[in-house]
Amino acid sequence: MTASKSIYLETLPPDLDRDALPAHIAVIMDGNGRWAKRQGLPRFMGHRRGVDALKDLLRCCKDWGVGALTAYAFSTENWGRPLEEVEFLMALFERVLRRELQEMMAEDVKIRFVGNLKALPPSLQDEIARSMDDTKDNRGIQFTVATNYGGRQEILNACRAIASRVKEGTLHVEQIDEAVFEQNLYTAGLPAPDLLIRTSGEMRISNFLLWQMAYAEIYVTQTAWPDFDRTEFHRALLSYQQRDRRFGKVKM
Ligand code: IPE
Ligand code: IPE
Ligand code: MG
Repeated sequence: MTASKSIYLETLPPDLDRDALPAHIAVIMDGNGRWAKRQGLPRFMGHRRGVDALKDLLRCCKDWGVGALTAYAFSTENWGRPLEEVEFLMALFERVLRRELQEMMAEDVKIRFVGNLKALPPSLQDEIARSMDDTKDNRGIQFTVATNYGGRQEILNACRAIASRVKEGTLHVEQIDEAVFEQNLYTAGLPAPDLLIRTSGEMRISNFLLWQMAYAEIYVTQTAWPDFDRTEFHRALLSYQQRDRRFGKVKM
C-alpha cells in the first residue's frame, strides 16, 4: 500500500456522508478456509489472518465514526467442524483476547460477547469475563463478538425467559411486545444492524441475528475475509449509502 493511500483511508473518505453512516454494522467473516486453500496453506492460517482483518476493521470503524460493530466468530453449527479446527479456534480466541486487551483499553473499545458462552472452554470464559468487565465503561466503540452464537437459539432463550416471567406472574401476556422481546435477546441495548456485510460470496445469513436483521441492508462481496481491507469497507459503505431504505413505505 502506498503512503498516500493509507493516509487517505485513515479518515472517512470524502465521498462518504458522515451523517448517513450505519450506526451498527454486522459482519459474517466468511472464507478463511478457502483463502488458505488458495494459498496452499492449512485452514488455520486463514483464521489467523482473519484476526488481523477484524482488528483493522474495528479500528477503521472507530476512525471513520461507526459506533457499533458485531462480528460472527463462531456459530452454534460450527461445532460440527473437525475437532482440531474447533480446538484451534477456541485457543485462538483466548490468545487474541489476552493479547489485545491492553490495546482495546487504550482505544476505548467496549467489548461484549454474545452467544451460549457457558458451553465454551472455561479458560476462554474467564478471558471473556475479564475483557467484558475491564472494558465495560469504555465509550469509543461497541464491539460485539458472536461466539457459539445461534439466532434460533437466541430467540428460544428469549421465549423461555419471557415465559418464566409470565408463569411467576411478573409479566402479563398482553405486555409482550417488540421492546420486551428485545430486552431478552443477547443484544439487549444495541441498535439493530443497519448493514450486514458477508465476505466470500455466500448469499445467506447462516443463523446470524435473525430477529435483529429484519431491516438490515445486505452487502455481499466475493473477497475472502482475510483480504477484507479498508478499500473493501469503503466500497461496502458506498453501496450502503446508495440504498433507498423504505422500511415498507412508499416515497412520495
Ligand atoms: C469463517 O471462515 C470463519 C469461521 C466460520 C470460524 P470459514 O472457516 O467458514 O471459511 P470457508 O467458508 O471454509 O472458506
Ligand atoms: C458463518 O460461516 C459463521 C461464521 C462466520 C462464524 P459458515 O462458514 O459457518 O457458514 P455456512 O456453513 O457457509 O453457512
Ligand atoms: Mg465458511
